[in-house]
Amino acid sequence: MVSANPHQTIHTGGLTPLEQELALASFGPGAHDPAQTRGVLVDDGAQASPRGADAAAQAAATLDAVETAIANATGTTGATGVASAQSDSVDAARGDPSASQSNPLHHGGDQAAPAYAPPPRYDPRNPHLGVWNAHLASVRARNALALPLRGCGRLTRAAGLVLEAVGLRLAVGAEVMIELPPGSPLPMAEAEVVGFAGDKLFLMPTTEVAGLLPGSRVWPLESAPIADPMAGAKRLPVGWGLLGRVLDASGRPLDGLGALDTEADAPLTAPVINPLNREPIHEVLDVGVRAINALLTVGRGQRMGLFAGSGVGKSVLLGTMARATSAEVIVIGLIGERGREVKEFIEQILGEDGLARSVVVAAPADVSPLLRMQAAAYTTTLAEYFRDQGKHVLLLMDSLTRYAMAQREIALAIGEPPATKGYPPSVFAKLPALVERTGNGPQGGGSITAFYTVLTEGDDQQDPIADSARAILDGHIVLSRTLAEAGHYPAIDIEASISRAMTALVDDQHLNRTRAFKQMLSRYQRNRDLINVGAYVSGRDAVLDRAIALYPRIEAFLQQGFRETANYDQSVDMLGALLGNISGNAQGNGSGART
Ligand SMILES: Nc1ncnc2c1ncn2[C@@H]1O[C@H](COP(=O)(O)OP(=O)(O)OP(=O)(O)O)[C@@H](O)[C@H]1O
Ligand SMILES: [Mg+2]
Repeated sequence: MVSANPHQTIHTGGLTPLEQELALASFGPGAHDPAQTRGVLVDDGAQASPRGADAAAQAAATLDAVETAIANATGTTGATGVASAQSDSVDAARGDPSASQSNPLHHGGDQAAPAYAPPPRYDPRNPHLGVWNAHLASVRARNALALPLRGCGRLTRAAGLVLEAVGLRLAVGAEVMIELPPGSPLPMAEAEVVGFAGDKLFLMPTTEVAGLLPGSRVWPLESAPIADPMAGAKRLPVGWGLLGRVLDASGRPLDGLGALDTEADAPLTAPVINPLNREPIHEVLDVGVRAINALLTVGRGQRMGLFAGSGVGKSVLLGTMARATSAEVIVIGLIGERGREVKEFIEQILGEDGLARSVVVAAPADVSPLLRMQAAAYTTTLAEYFRDQGKHVLLLMDSLTRYAMAQREIALAIGEPPATKGYPPSVFAKLPALVERTGNGPQGGGSITAFYTVLTEGDDQQDPIADSARAILDGHIVLSRTLAEAGHYPAIDIEASISRAMTALVDDQHLNRTRAFKQMLSRYQRNRDLINVGAYVSGRDAVLDRAIALYPRIEAFLQQGFRETANYDQSVDMLGALLGNISGNAQGNGSGART
């Protein structure tokens, strides 16, 4: 507020440094001398100091005061307004930038600016204050209209899968938007930074880039400086509303059931869990498959590999587990599958009951490799969400090999040298990074039990991905083409399969029976030809004799119809009924709880 003459009352609260400086420049010297100034500086909320004794220290003026000063200067307000003002001042006060810009810049001092002759009621020592203030006001008004400054780079190269951009400094994994020309189906293309060389960024698009022009502008998704490293990360929907839904790699519904009902979103990466904080695997997870429950017992939080060539029953086995498991939530990632197979899996193998407590993320073979990788990460993110809510989650990923292949496509495209069987080293780093996100959470929390299918090309168990997966997983179930061809389903090769957590999960008797079962099966397989041609004479080998006698029951035990399920207790009881008191030479040490 400013009082009328002879004294102006000027408030000093809420000023920017620049405004304070201006006020100081304008009012400061005069503030000490009542003879020279009519201004009295007052701190907001403080008592007025008519003489402005400490005005030099407090020398600042509020916007109110300055505006009123302009009004006085230009005669635009109040009955005591100025009759006339110099044209520049008037223009400036009206916000005419052309007028207001020039004067302050070219004004050398009070005497050198006759054009700013002060109005009668205004401090003659501050003729240009109004001009300055008007200028500031117009700058502020223009600032308010201006869009935030967004740094952008330019696209310099698009070759194969990879785009190159210059002019940006972004971290690997950052998201960018690339402009597409008008008329393109999408206004912008999305891409991710997958590498760099010097000042060139390598970008991998995640959406359609048809129509991309050389020199297109590239913006970081988050251009503001960010304190939280996860703040700019891509987040996808998670939540209980996703149960029963089928989503794509970006969390968009594929099932035509309308918008998603989600309560939260989560980033695609997660902080590494301290291995010492993880709950050990000590509880059995019922997977509904007899051969696995009884002979390859799986624990909650265990990570298993399902190793098989194509067409030997991986998808059917995963579907059986999804329908019959005791896990509370199932998260299924279909990565790099044929598009037709996705529908078949959901409708015929998983079925309505299985889908009701599942979330399916599908990224078939025809989507970009980046999206295939993103789908695997999203599947894991969803499982982590449910685990962090204390639930026991079953994660089924078909397949880990396709995930590795997607990373191979990207890595080779950006020039990473191939190592083993064309797989660049980054592939072998990505696999454990993905797999380690699953498993048990901190003590007392939920768990993610995971099954990853691993394709063994030409049923070659020494495939580098199979090798690497075997090393990072807590067990492997091998499906045999020979068994599948003989109509033996699920075609689990019991001898070649192992559950590394089993000894900590089951009691000694169960473990001994498992060993005895494997011994008999193995002995029978090795002598099958002799037995078939009648060359084996009974009585020579007691184990083989028992195996021959029990073989039809062993086979029946191992086989399970597509729609049949066998819970954990039934499976163990049936094994007991089959083997009775027969025991192998194993010594178990566990006594796991049944669930
Ligand atoms: N438990 C089962 N009972 C009867 N038939 C089965 C069973 N499991 C698999 N099959 C047969 O095997 C075929 C192939 O199974 P599935 O699609 O699960 O194989 P896959 O390993 O997933 O193949 P791909 O590598 O092509 O994905 C099925 O179409 C079905 O005919
Ligand atoms: Mg399959």
